[in-house]
Amino acid sequence: MLSPDIISDRVAEAVASISYPAQPAGLYEPIAYTLESGGKRLRPQLTLAVCSALGKDIDIAMNAALGVEVFHNFTLLHDDVMDAADMRRGRPTVQIRWNDNSAILSGDAMLTMATSYIAKTPAAVMPEAMKLFNRTAMEVYEGQQYDMDFENRTDVTVGQYMEMIRLKTSVLIGCACRLGAVVAEAPDDVAQAFYDYGVNLGLAFQLRDDWLDTYGDPLVFGKQIGGDIINAKKTWLLITAISECRTELLDILAEDLEPQERINQVRAVYDRLNLKDRCHDLIVRYADMAVRSLENISLGNDARDYFVNLAERSIDRNY
Ligand code: IPE
Ligand code: IPE
Ligand code: MG
Ligand code: MG
Ligand code: MG
Repeated sequence: MLSPDIISDRVAEAVASISYPAQPAGLYEPIAYTLESGGKRLRPQLTLAVCSALGKDIDIAMNAALGVEVFHNFTLLHDDVMDAADMRRGRPTVQIRWNDNSAILSGDAMLTMATSYIAKTPAAVMPEAMKLFNRTAMEVYEGQQYDMDFENRTDVTVGQYMEMIRLKTSVLIGCACRLGAVVAEAPDDVAQAFYDYGVNLGLAFQLRDDWLDTYGDPLVFGKQIGGDIINAKKTWLLITAISECRTELLDILAEDLEPQERINQVRAVYDRLNLKDRCHDLIVRYADMAVRSLENISLGNDARDYFVNLAERSIDRNY
């Protein structure tokens, strides 16, 4: 298997070499701004890594990798409108730098770009890749709708939260992995094992994202801290706090508080319930499950190390 550095370099080069028409600048500048602003590039790296772990040349996976990364970046543009987020990757979000309409329309164009990349996967596997990609995209939208619906509810269970994050975040990470197996023409049990790895990694990944939204360092995380509390997002942290201190939490949420004061009061309850450590324990459990998903398939040691290390790093990631 190729080294992790080569995989990440190849992704960086491929994203950097995407070219955009000059006009209309209002459409393409926000796309370039978004795709050039970095990010971890987790999903395309996974697509290439799975393909390489299965012994194939990563060139056959590059269009699939670009498709998932451009799709992911599209979801961020719309997500930042839905979440009224001001900062991403340490820079103003598209709707702050431009406006909501730019985020909507440039996002739409990115969705079409993403689909075009998937259409350029090798002909023999393209129908399967497209079917997986489209199914995943619909699931992401479903997850995002649940995420918004839950803002207005106080009866969301941990089970409903886990299903919501499976849809909005995990299936795309699963899809990124499975696409690597699809282009490598791997047997279905192998593709499924990588999908399960990605989905479990994705659950750990979103739990950690929610953890960082409360406990992260904004300069490192690159996003505003406390946005989930302000939006009353039903994260594992808030659901658990509501279930264990219901009256107190509902009073805080109902009160007319300054944003920072609301964040402080909710955090004080989290701290009293030790939710920081308890959430971390849950993240460790899903990262373990990710690793166990690959137990029954045969992989070289370097490949297994790659996927184990990635899961381990996700537990403590700070951005
Ligand atoms: C952010 O995804 C949205 C979530 C699903 C949590 P990433 O944390 O992968 O964002 P970038 O691409 O690295 O910025
Ligand atoms: C993001 O969840 C899920 C998608 C973008 C589909 P969040 O709303 O928590 O992601 P961030 O924190 O804004 O990156
Ligand atoms: Mg968001
Ligand atoms: Mg969101
Ligand atoms: Mg978040």
